[in-house]
Amino acid sequence: MATNARAEGHRMERREALAAHYRAVRALSLAIAAPLADSDATIQPMPDASPAKWHLAHTTWFFETFVLRDHLPGYRAHDESYAFLFNSYYEGEGDRHPRARRGMITRPSLDEVRAWRAAVDEALLAEIDHLPADLITLGLNHEQQHQELMLMDLTATFFENPLRPAVWKAETAAPAAMPAPLGWRDGREGLVEIGHEGGGFAFDNEGPRHKVWLHRHQLADRPVTNAEWQAFMAHGGYADPLLWLSDGWAWVQAEKVEAPLYWVKSEGGWQRFALDGLRPVNPVEPVCHISYYEADAYARWVGARLPTEAEWEAAAEELDPAAGNQLDAAGAVRPLPSDGSVQLFGDVWEWTGSAYLPYPGFRPAEGAVGEYNGKFMISQMVLRGGCCATPRGHVRPSYRNFFYPHQRWMYSGLRLARDA
Ligand SMILES: [Fe+2]
Repeated sequence: MATNARAEGHRMERREALAAHYRAVRALSLAIAAPLADSDATIQPMPDASPAKWHLAHTTWFFETFVLRDHLPGYRAHDESYAFLFNSYYEGEGDRHPRARRGMITRPSLDEVRAWRAAVDEALLAEIDHLPADLITLGLNHEQQHQELMLMDLTATFFENPLRPAVWKAETAAPAAMPAPLGWRDGREGLVEIGHEGGGFAFDNEGPRHKVWLHRHQLADRPVTNAEWQAFMAHGGYADPLLWLSDGWAWVQAEKVEAPLYWVKSEGGWQRFALDGLRPVNPVEPVCHISYYEADAYARWVGARLPTEAEWEAAAEELDPAAGNQLDAAGAVRPLPSDGSVQLFGDVWEWTGSAYLPYPGFRPAEGAVGEYNGKFMISQMVLRGGCCATPRGHVRPSYRNFFYPHQRWMYSGLRLARDA
């Protein structure tokens, strides 16, 4: 009996921890949206980016559908029409509103979406002891991904406004000393294992754990900075076809790219837009908002290359993934200058030279949530390490983010690697 009581005690503790985590994650999404007017939260600046209201609604749809509808007998949807509007890409869940038209949804209002969130939270928290903890955990990790997307998409939204408004005022950073010249560290060599295994949450695309052979190589001890990027620009990096992959050169020419996204040329030099408004480019911060093509061209220019995801993970495995500059509270996030640590986690997602492919033995999760990751394993590249907009606690050494090579509205930067 005593053993049963102890087991029951542990179960209750885990449930209470899950409920507390649920409340905290859901509150952070609302805090990110707190400064927004209904109109700010409704417009869509480009097909890749979604309105903040849509993110608040879609994450709620995920809990209402996969947790409450599927596992709470007798649960009735808050509004039957919302599933059509706020399903993202789940074919198994039927027809949905086209992604590129999300900015046309003026109703439900932002307040109505907030009311829906409150109703779903109340229903879920009341029954949390009887609902599947693994699906709730998946929903929370999903919502954390959308918190980062909200910050990315709000940056794209407010950049459309010629007044370049600041959503959050931030202190003007004291000019930091120039970081030390780039240093190199030996990477692990030989047979290593990568991928998630064992306890704790991970997305299905992070496993199975498997063996990889690493050749002798070195990794840079910090990401590339804005000052270094400006040297690439001054050298004519964006105008030299020999530095670019064929697809990348076509992209540079078609899009007339001459700087990272959100950089604006002014009389006093380059400025960059972020959620704290338009400010001079800080030379010591890691370069941010660059595409895979740009990262690859820069690496070629300096005679280096991008790390593979296995090289990156082998270097990150011993480090604390909750350390570094990551998202703790709603606000104008930005990458910070190197403090001398290797900075593998936080600040900027680091492009790798690895295509986003299934690991040996990969099987998507059963059921509708099996559409979460696997079907996107085509034409995208892997990024590692999280960024300043990634909720702290969300990433792991095995965490795989992925984007198309031309995309750069996420907080993407690069770390160099080289063969040794
Ligand atoms: Fe989603």
